Amino acid sequence: MGESVSLGAIQETLLIPLYGRAEDARRQPSVLNDRRAIELVEAIDYDFTKFRGPSLSGSVLRAAIFDEYVRGFLREHPEGTVVDLGCGLSTRFDRLDNGRLRWFDLDVEDTMALRRRFFQDGDRYTMISGSLFDTDWFEPVTERPGPLFLLSEAVMLYFPAERVHAVLRQLATRFPDTPLAFDTGGQLMMKSQDRNPVFQAVSARMQWICDDPATLEVHGLRLRESRTFAQPQPAVAREWPFKYRAIAKLFGWAPPVTTYKLNLFITDPA
Ligand SMILES: C[S@@+](CC[C@H](N)C(=O)[O-])C[C@H]1O[C@@H](n2cnc3c(N)ncnc32)[C@H](O)[C@@H]1O
Repeated sequence: MGESVSLGAIQETLLIPLYGRAEDARRQPSVLNDRRAIELVEAIDYDFTKFRGPSLSGSVLRAAIFDEYVRGFLREHPEGTVVDLGCGLSTRFDRLDNGRLRWFDLDVEDTMALRRRFFQDGDRYTMISGSLFDTDWFEPVTERPGPLFLLSEAVMLYFPAERVHAVLRQLATRFPDTPLAFDTGGQLMMKSQDRNPVFQAVSARMQWICDDPATLEVHGLRLRESRTFAQPQPAVAREWPFKYRAIAKLFGWAPPVTTYKLNLFITDPA
């Protein structure tokens, strides 16, 4: 019998990208080769097979694009601090650790309790139980002075627009001139959720509709890059198996894929 899970509705969605990464790691060639995800899926008592469809691979490609945003930061600031807001059971720290960075993974209590069954804090790695919308985590992540990178992957989408806008303003004010990566989904993507097999398997639904990430600049951000699955960074595209590059080319220009954006902003509260 594996580890049982008891997670809130939004929290349960973390199992989708986890399974996506495990399935990816079972294939050759693999995008992320996340062997740890296979171990976690095998250790957790949950019917992962109910998750089907293109969103599984989508979550892997998304992780690869976000990884490259963080890598770009670490190339400039190898001793910088990375904060993953709503980390779920992500293994990004293991993928990107350069031996010098400082890393914080934050998630809400029930998710963090699950995560702590499989991951341990280390010298440069700390897990924080808390909400992205609270401010308690501000202090610990700034204990070590120096450049900071904030990341939130597939989290804000689940909250109402007003709440997301407010937290963006809060982050911009508290962490000026800081890179902040997160994803946005347009109307077409949100409307198609009920037809998406992975969402048919869970109760949570995404709420925040953002058709144009540039419109978020009014909340104290400047948009640096905005990518769809059809526009990965060249270094990332080179690593993708041919199948994904072909699919991205064929279907990547059709909605709703084009309305799902993986964005890199810099905070600019002035
Ligand atoms: C779709 S999962 C994404 C997990 C992870 N970022 C990934 O890509 O594998 C959504 C995540 O949002 C987290 N979450 C929900 N409410 C949150 C909050 N208020 N603050 C931070 N994280 C939250 C959930 O626990 C879950 O881990």
